[in-house]
Amino acid sequence: QTEEEQTEDYLFKIVMIGDAAVGKSNLLARFARDEFYPNSKSTIGVEFQTQTMEISGKEVKAQIWDTAGQERFRAVTSAYYRGAVGALLVYDISRRQTFEGTGRWLNELQTHSDMNVVTILVGNKSDLKDAREVTTAEGKALAEAQGLFFIETSALDSSNVSAAFQTVVKEIY
Ligand code: GTP
Ligand code: MG
Repeated sequence: QTEEEQTEDYLFKIVMIGDAAVGKSNLLARFARDEFYPNSKSTIGVEFQTQTMEISGKEVKAQIWDTAGQERFRAVTSAYYRGAVGALLVYDISRRQTFEGTGRWLNELQTHSDMNVVTILVGNKSDLKDAREVTTAEGKALAEAQGLFFIETSALDSSNVSAAFQTVVKEIY
């Protein structure tokens, strides 16, 4: 087997979900290309990034799918979730409404995907300290109650962005 074929053995589909403007696309841009867009527009349809990661000394490829939080811009739901083995469920720590919206996303994920999708609850925009509306403890408690991993990130200052994706891929692998 060539090296290329070997890496193909580990191609994991991961989906980004969560309300509009929580920072899904910027988390992915930061992770895949180390970029950040201060004025990014809503995602239309679906976008992909394939990212090679090293997990316990092995090359693993993650195909990360990103769609819009808003219904009218979204990809076809069933196709979006099909075959996903991991999910990042993102909310914005400075907008409580997006934290309260996570229940709806979890329902949709559970309806449309296989039973054991490794899911991490991601409280993004941790840089917005003065605007925080959801405490770290609240995020942790929800994750624990739902059996999810938990992390707070900032796509702006890069904190914990790789860790969020790594946590999911490590657990799948
Ligand atoms: P949809 O595609 O509409 O679902 O939105 P999204 O979840 O992909 O959000 P997006 O990444 O487009 O970010 C929305 C806005 O939040 C943009 O103006 C980003 O610059 C900003 N943003 C994203 N992540 C962060 C962050 O960690 N900190 C701060 N301060 N702003 C962020
Ligand atoms: Mg987006």
